[in-house]
Amino acid sequence: MQHHDRNSDQTTLTESPLAFDFQATTPCAPEVVEAMAPYWSELWGNPSSRQHRLGLTAAAAVNLARRQIADSLAVAPERLIFTSGATEANNLALLGLARRRGQGHVISVSTEHHAVLDPLAQLEREGFRVTLLNPGTDGLINPAQVEQAIATDTILVSVMAANNEIGVLQPLEAIAEVCRHHGIAIHSDAAQAFGHIPLQPDALGLDLVSLSAHKLYGPKGVGALVVRDGITLEPLQWGGGQEAGLRAGTLPTALIVGFATAARTALQDRVQRNHRLQTLRDQLWEGLQRRIPGVLLNGAMEPRLPHNLNICIPGITGSRLHRALRPHLACSSGSACSSGAPSHVLQAIGRSRAEAEASLRLSLGRTTTDDEIQLAVERIAAAVCATRS
Ligand SMILES: Cc1ncc(COP(=O)(O)O)c(C=O)c1O
Repeated sequence: MQHHDRNSDQTTLTESPLAFDFQATTPCAPEVVEAMAPYWSELWGNPSSRQHRLGLTAAAAVNLARRQIADSLAVAPERLIFTSGATEANNLALLGLARRRGQGHVISVSTEHHAVLDPLAQLEREGFRVTLLNPGTDGLINPAQVEQAIATDTILVSVMAANNEIGVLQPLEAIAEVCRHHGIAIHSDAAQAFGHIPLQPDALGLDLVSLSAHKLYGPKGVGALVVRDGITLEPLQWGGGQEAGLRAGTLPTALIVGFATAARTALQDRVQRNHRLQTLRDQLWEGLQRRIPGVLLNGAMEPRLPHNLNICIPGITGSRLHRALRPHLACSSGSACSSGAPSHVLQAIGRSRAEAEASLRLSLGRTTTDDEIQLAVERIAAAVCATRS
């Protein structure tokens, strides 16, 4: 809990930092923890054990969860391949499709998560050609750029739904239309989008979609790849033949049940949550602009995830800013997985290295309150002041 020190009306240093890093991950919702509970112990069967009740009970739980997640995406349940998260789903989609085709050209975007960029680098090592498109300063790709990049041997386009750092939403439907016209498969990393914005792979025209549970108040360690009928992939691993032979390994029943519960809850409260978080996010941005002259927004404000803000404070030393802020506010200078390097996303949209370092990703969550927004403005303004002095 955050509160003011009554004596000084200053925030005390002993308080826990305000949580503004809900795009790195989210806490499990209480109903998710509750739904998972029996599957850790009393209902411990292996969903592949069809000869006895324990196994059948686990299989029924997985089937129900698969149907619930599939329903929330308006796809058939058989099209879901459970994975350990979006990283694995991206690897399966990109490596799996390219290796199955054997050779060719892949198009993606320089602002993708490393869970897309690194498998693409692996494909290059294996002899595939990769083109990375650069977005504009707004962070957005124009479908015409995809059209222009298509070559006679292009086999796959991969464009993320929502950016994990600047929150911008790519024009997926229009990009998918270009791909469909040329008969090219399209994949989207929707780790940051699922549960937050409407996501229907078929309506958008997507062939492969990667999902993660822990970005939508589900457990860490589970995700899925949605695969359109007719798309064939080479598996990344071999074993017990689970998930139609595409992802061998015992299914984690508890995590899958938790994933489905999180997806259902996210769908139920999405409209209301987004409205609330967008209002709070806008208050945060207005407050910061009032208190920090010269503060810049990274990426377009629209279309953007309602719970994301990414700001740059030019002329300030990023490392000092982050050090000053750390005891007071948990946020991120880039993606949680960027190993401390200045953000490749911010540099790709035209920020200098120093500006990228002097940037903050502020992401709001279900529990973010009005008071926390006011406090965050004060704490960031104070940290900027301390850094400048
Ligand atoms: C856009 C994006 N893709 C992929 C991932 C990785 O997802 P997971 O942690 O489920 O492997 C993340 C998480 O940081 C992400 O934001």
